[in-house]
Amino acid sequence: MMKTMITEMFGIEHPIIQGGMHYVGFAELAAAVSNAGGLGIITGLTQRSPEDLAREIRRCREMTDKPFGVNLTFLPIVKTPDYPGYIRAIIEGGVKVVETAGNNPQKWLPGLHEAGVKVIHKCTSVRHSLKAEAIGCDAVSVDGFECGGHPGEDDIPNFILLPRAAETLKIPFVASGGMADGRSLVAALALGAQGMNMGTRFIATKEAPVHENVKQAIVAASELDTRLVMRPLRNTERVLHNAAVDRLLEKERTLGPNLRFEDIIDEVAGVYPRIMTDGEMEAGAWSCGMVAGLIHDIPTVKELIDRIMVEANAIVRERLAGFVAA
Ligand SMILES: Cc1cc2nc3c(=O)[nH]c(=O)nc-3n(C[C@H](O)[C@H](O)[C@H](O)COP(=O)(O)O)c2cc1C
Repeated sequence: MMKTMITEMFGIEHPIIQGGMHYVGFAELAAAVSNAGGLGIITGLTQRSPEDLAREIRRCREMTDKPFGVNLTFLPIVKTPDYPGYIRAIIEGGVKVVETAGNNPQKWLPGLHEAGVKVIHKCTSVRHSLKAEAIGCDAVSVDGFECGGHPGEDDIPNFILLPRAAETLKIPFVASGGMADGRSLVAALALGAQGMNMGTRFIATKEAPVHENVKQAIVAASELDTRLVMRPLRNTERVLHNAAVDRLLEKERTLGPNLRFEDIIDEVAGVYPRIMTDGEMEAGAWSCGMVAGLIHDIPTVKELIDRIMVEANAIVRERLAGFVAA
């Protein structure tokens, strides 16, 4: 138990959020995180239609009576998803937290706020965090260069990005990217955040509804095993290194500024179900954070969160207090 502006805003016990993850953030994981006292998040766009999302929200509700959220990602996708439909499913499903990511969510804020939904926008820069604050987001998730998924194009790691966010923002923020344990949580709080958001760490848990191969790949990986792909398209993604990623990077080298999305479609399109559900680890490029280097086991979500809170408390009360004791 730890009280911060984030635990108060979202009605949760511990300041730990599970970020939306494509083909990982199903009801099973979101419910497990919420039941353990964190904030679980269902990934909206993994559900093929608003009706499917409504069903997933109902499934989650059957597994937990604690608050959980839904992620809505606004990325440059060829075919625009039915965002109004997804938002309706969220509101009608009684969900009170939405994690937005990617493009500016301004258009959707009035409807969400009217329905009493809090919005936490995920940003990779101080510039975008300030914009999120200005348009009325309730909180931001500040995602450093270390993060799995889309770190943006500025390449500012969390040791700089978080204190910069703290000296600039008025709304509360959580630290995201590279977070794994009690040390991460205390460091995030020390740098000015009100909690932390984790992606990759939550994949390597018993309840994460993904193929065992994915969990083993994360445990086996070190902090040296991620790569940045799609930088020439200004859609940079941090992914786990594999043969498909090598092929993709070779195309980036060969085609240079002429690279188009169509050139790399084999390595990036339709990859997630093959990796996450079927465990075909060489199927393509999939998001993974540098934090894989700090992940050595596959605990239950409750074991993970309890361990983080015990460790964080011990660091604050014993290690840090010991340094300042006269
Ligand atoms: C496999 C995977 C899929 C992800 N998919 C999404 C997504 O669909 N939408 C989104 O906003 N963030 C997505 N993310 C980013 C996470 O929500 C989170 O911001 C990020 O993982 C934090 O960095 P970490 O992995 O170092 O904890 C994904 C991350 C991973 C590892």
